[in-house]
Amino acid sequence: MGEELKLVQPVKKRGERYQLDFLSKETVKKVCSFHKSFPVYQETPLVSMDGLAKELGLGGIFVKDESYRFGLNAFKVLGGSYAIGNYMAQKLQMDIADLPYQKMVSEEVRNKLGELTFVTATDGNHGRGVAWTANQLGQKAVVYMPKGSAPERLERIRAEGAEVSIEDMNYDEAVRLAYSMAKEKGWIMVQDTAWEGYTDIPTWIMQGYATMGYEIYEQLAEKPTHIFLQAGVGSMAGAITGLFADICGEDRPIITIVEPNKADCVFRTAQADDGKLHFVTGDMDTIMAGLACGEPCSIGWDVLRDYADNFISCPDYIAAKGMRMLGNPPKGDIRVISGESGAVTLGCVAELMQNPSCRSVKEALKLDENSRVLCISTEGDTDKENYQSIVWDGKVPSFRK
Ligand SMILES: Cc1ncc(COP(=O)(O)O)c(C=O)c1O
Repeated sequence: MGEELKLVQPVKKRGERYQLDFLSKETVKKVCSFHKSFPVYQETPLVSMDGLAKELGLGGIFVKDESYRFGLNAFKVLGGSYAIGNYMAQKLQMDIADLPYQKMVSEEVRNKLGELTFVTATDGNHGRGVAWTANQLGQKAVVYMPKGSAPERLERIRAEGAEVSIEDMNYDEAVRLAYSMAKEKGWIMVQDTAWEGYTDIPTWIMQGYATMGYEIYEQLAEKPTHIFLQAGVGSMAGAITGLFADICGEDRPIITIVEPNKADCVFRTAQADDGKLHFVTGDMDTIMAGLACGEPCSIGWDVLRDYADNFISCPDYIAAKGMRMLGNPPKGDIRVISGESGAVTLGCVAELMQNPSCRSVKEALKLDENSRVLCISTEGDTDKENYQSIVWDGKVPSFRK
């Protein structure tokens, strides 16, 4: 295979840490109430994989299965819907608590706000969430997808009534395209990453993702000892890390961020540890399309810098291994249909426990028979063709050009 998993454990500096008010348990409880007002809302399952934990020599493995989220096969809609809800509440000079789903989609609100167009750049999952929300509201969505995006994902976004195209550029360039179109046409940019001067919507998006964390907090009988979170730009990982840091204080679980080695911008930022964000450029040809982002979210990074413990950069075969293991667990465990970006954390845990050459990393992470590990399978088989060729045919296909 040639490629190896790499670990960085930055030394935590003492002193002031990033404020977590926006991800506090009380705040996130309210976000969760907003999502609960949606008729499609159902808490997604948290699967306890006891057989797999035993097989790997761990005390427990818990996998949150986001393939059940709103019938959309990925967690992402939590962010887009909450950000759009907040945007509308702000325009109406209301509190989001007074704008539950039924009110948000009402004629009265539509008449007050008029026609809106939401624009975003996405590998697929976020765009589908934004398009779905716009569709519920009877509003428009425009979605730009980067080069190499699966046509199947484009069709799903189109099915939500959005105007969607695959552009000849990478994710970060597509974000800039969406930004310039928003400025030119007066559209509202709903992007799942923050940068200087663009922070409100990405903050709301992170808060929206935290609903997953709140559900986990309510579902888990006992606190996990370890949490593994995958990162594209790091908004999702930042949201879950922030919430658990708020809930657990200094006693928080050991938090590990996992990225594909072809798009490991958060890992590089942690490795450099010089107060700057570090980017990956070019095509980022990984099978983990949802994680193929080269520029960290500034707010996500602020949280991860101060509260995450480990950063791992890993090759594609680890995601493929996770997909196969979750889809075919030991007898007695419930299977989880998990896509490339969803399965990489479980694949990483398995690799650390099984591969003797990863022993030093496993020890550095303090993984042993007493560990209770939490992973989030953030998507199902959002690219069915790829899923089947990896899980059924045993392939790790190269990136679609
Ligand atoms: C399935 C899936 N998992 C994880 C992520 C990572 O989220 P973030 O970009 O906030 O790091 C994404 C991002 O699109 C995704 O689609």
